[in-house]
Amino acid sequence: MARSDALPRLNLQNQTTTNNTAAAKSIRTMYWKLLLVSALAVHVVAQFPSTCPAIVSAGLNGTYGICPQDFTIIGGSVEPVHESTRAPTGFAVDPSLNIYLTYPRNQGATPNNVVIATSFTGEQPWPNAAYQNCTPTQNVSTCFINVQNVVLDSINQLWIVDSGIAPGNKSATPGGAKIMSFDLSGNLLATYLIPLSLYHDNLNINDVRINNTLGGGNGYAFLTDESADGSIVSINLDNGTVNRRLFNTTVVKSDPGYVGVYDGQPIYSWNGTNRVFSAIGSDGIALASGNVYWGVLSSRRFYYVSQEVVIDNSLSDEQVLAAVQNPGECGTEQAGFTADDNGRVYILASEHNAIFYVDTLQSQVNETIDGVPPGGPPLVPVPPERYVVKTLVRNALIQHADSAAIYDGWLYFCTNQLEFSPQFSYNNTDNRRGPFRSYKTWVGAGPAV
Ligand SMILES: *[C@@H]1O[C@H](CO)[C@@H](O)[C@H](O)[C@H]1NC(C)=O
Ligand SMILES: *[C@@H]1O[C@H](CO)[C@@H](O)[C@H](O)[C@H]1NC(C)=O
Ligand SMILES: *[C@@H]1O[C@H](CO)[C@@H](O)[C@H](O)[C@H]1NC(C)=O
Ligand SMILES: *[C@@H]1O[C@H](CO)[C@@H](O)[C@H](O)[C@H]1NC(C)=O
Ligand SMILES: *[C@@H]1O[C@H](CO)[C@@H](O)[C@H](O)[C@H]1NC(C)=O
Ligand SMILES: *[C@@H]1O[C@H](CO)[C@@H](O)[C@H](O)[C@H]1NC(C)=O
Ligand SMILES: *[C@@H]1O[C@H](CO)[C@@H](O)[C@H](O)[C@H]1NC(C)=O
Ligand SMILES: *[C@@H]1O[C@H](CO)[C@@H](O)[C@H](O)[C@H]1NC(C)=O
Ligand SMILES: *[C@@H]1O[C@H](CO)[C@@H](O)[C@H](O)[C@H]1NC(C)=O
Repeated sequence: MARSDALPRLNLQNQTTTNNTAAAKSIRTMYWKLLLVSALAVHVVAQFPSTCPAIVSAGLNGTYGICPQDFTIIGGSVEPVHESTRAPTGFAVDPSLNIYLTYPRNQGATPNNVVIATSFTGEQPWPNAAYQNCTPTQNVSTCFINVQNVVLDSINQLWIVDSGIAPGNKSATPGGAKIMSFDLSGNLLATYLIPLSLYHDNLNINDVRINNTLGGGNGYAFLTDESADGSIVSINLDNGTVNRRLFNTTVVKSDPGYVGVYDGQPIYSWNGTNRVFSAIGSDGIALASGNVYWGVLSSRRFYYVSQEVVIDNSLSDEQVLAAVQNPGECGTEQAGFTADDNGRVYILASEHNAIFYVDTLQSQVNETIDGVPPGGPPLVPVPPERYVVKTLVRNALIQHADSAAIYDGWLYFCTNQLEFSPQFSYNNTDNRRGPFRSYKTWVGAGPAV
């Protein structure tokens, strides 16, 4: 904004002490005219208040843009539930409200890959120490190489998703890319291996959700592959058949030249002092209303497609791609999704210190959108052209929420300041500042699966 230095800097205080002569009057009139003209032209040199008014956040009488700290906190309280010294990526909560976290090895070794919280700061390896670090004598299909997330399904089984990619490597160790299910006592129930035929182009399985009823048997697992080419993977939990779909299509690939924002700062990837662009593909995933929802991390895009379509081997790749719904961008880079039993999908909005959501069932919509009134009979989906993404919470406590889980009315999430980690920092410095807290915020719903 230009400002005019040619305007007289008259001082009102001095003017009022001037004698009430005709000359003084005319000066005052001229002054007010000048002030008016300059105000209209936005030319006046504003005198900034030396103190900020008390923050009035509620109601239309509140102010914006008066104080440097006028950032708004949106939504209800965000309550800490656990504190980690390392940055976690995965989070689960079980019916006894035990908390599970994963500490992946994308940026080097971690002593434990999966832990259960024993107190606010206490942790122990889960299910036990022997799983945590594959040793040369262990079969890599039976221990953890690089677990990204731990997820509770609807029949109280905990699933871990292991990318199988050892620290420093680009591709999974043969036999190491897998999902494993455990009961709540930590007994291994099942292991599903990604076949070597699907390892091509640095397959990097990142997140998993389970539909325990789909297909009538033991259900299906749905996974995101965050490799640069991206894909959505399904696993038939009856016979272990694995399908990789949407591979190398725009709906699972990053935006070329993508630059995100974190805590108000543009974020690139860095190789030392060489600037590179982040190219992380399909990452966060949730199941809701019979659909698979996912986002592309290095983008502000999200999509959904029918679960039935993803598991249908008779469909061509072109048919699966054609069935993908595009509800418009979600307005944020995102590393995690979850969903509740009202068909609400939550998007961990890392660019905004926020959690966004979108209602996918018309019965939950509370506003008239494009002429369609709120509410409606149960289970009627909102068509993609009427999706409206909204903010659940925005709060400086939310420093890159990465994984979320819903239980008993609360939405839980871990935070890890991902964009301050070496990969995203100039000259690969680690600008993260622990501790890394996990939080819960009230949503009043149960988990979708
Ligand atoms: C704004 O302030 C006026 C005067 O105090 C009050 O009458 C009105 O109810 C307030 N409006 C809102 C939306 O808070
Ligand atoms: C490694 O473990 C997997 C899963 O239990 C099993 O299918 C495979 O046969 C084992 N491989 C060897 C060499 O024992
Ligand atoms: C990492 O990759 C190298 C080859 O690029 C391979 O020799 C090595 O075994 C891999 N490490 C693990 C733990 O798989
Ligand atoms: C697994 O089951 C699915 C669905 O019934 C079927 O399409 C597929 O061929 C089966 N795979 C194997 C290896 O039996
Ligand atoms: C991915 O698709 C592009 C065209 O969109 C193609 O040039 C490239 O070779 C594909 N990559 C792989 C690994 O198939
Ligand atoms: C990073 O840069 C170095 C040297 O400039 C190069 O050898 C290396 O391949 C680069 N790494 C990546 C992941 O691009
Ligand atoms: C799981 O699959 C069943 C059967 O197709 C479907 O009714 C249900 O909506 C799916 N669950 C979710 C959360 O999408
Ligand atoms: C719909 O719900 C949201 C979130 O609770 C609220 O902010 C909004 O005001 C509601 N809209 C209407 C029309 O009630
Ligand atoms: C980058 O970091 C290395 C140490 O890792 C240091 O030696 C080098 O001076 C740094 N370069 C710049 C430009 O800061």
